Amino acid sequence: MKTVFAHRGISTLAPENTLAAFALCKPHGIGWIECDVDILADGTVVVSHDDTLDRCTDRSGSLYDLQAGDLAQIDAGSWFADQYMGERIPTLAQLITLVNQDQLNINVEIKSCSAGWAMTERLIDNVIAALDHLDDGRQLIVSSFNHQALAEFKRRRPQTAVACLYEAGQLGEDWLAVLQQCQAEFIHPADHGLTQQMIGDFKAAGYRVNVYTVNDLARANQLFNWGVDGVFTDIPHCFPAKYRAIGS
Ligand code: G3P
Ligand code: MG
Repeated sequence: MKTVFAHRGISTLAPENTLAAFALCKPHGIGWIECDVDILADGTVVVSHDDTLDRCTDRSGSLYDLQAGDLAQIDAGSWFADQYMGERIPTLAQLITLVNQDQLNINVEIKSCSAGWAMTERLIDNVIAALDHLDDGRQLIVSSFNHQALAEFKRRRPQTAVACLYEAGQLGEDWLAVLQQCQAEFIHPADHGLTQQMIGDFKAAGYRVNVYTVNDLARANQLFNWGVDGVFTDIPHCFPAKYRAIGS
């Protein structure tokens, strides 16, 4: 069975990385979500792609200057559509409650926290504390472009499957050594520039392969036929029903 991940939730129907975007998954039969996480000044883990508020809220400024109490004053929905006015930046704890309620599976992407290594370690610890509230039976992958942070996460929580993310053009000849160093089970490469040969190499080395971000059904089909296990997409609701069987 091929996996279709709702990238930042159904991020074409609702504001990305909000509870509204994730809550649309179950009704559309989508069993897997992807979210990005970073940390506030007080250690709260929040679901956000950017480390600033500027792109997806009604405010400007750094996440690293905020406290949990500030979240109630920040609108993360009205930029997208009127109906989402008042939507908040969720905490990872809030998202995990939804994941348990809707029996979803989750890929948590730990952002390359630019607040420094001490905050990165705090982020890792606080992500782990939040993940401890996932119900038994929920499937989990933790991924990161920051392979040092990913290796540290795996050291602290070895029972969780981890994935090395690669940006387009960043896949070097050392990819196998990096995956081994992280004790990764997955590789998550960018779609751009990815070839059948590269996928064959990943699979031959025993890794599962999930590709981001694939918003073209024919390209997704081609990747699946080349052996890719899953794709991250902003349009999971547009995929044929065979990809949208909850619980798969
Ligand atoms: O985890 C897949 C994908 O989300 C990685 O890129 O920048 O969309 O977080 P980005
Ligand atoms: Mg992401």
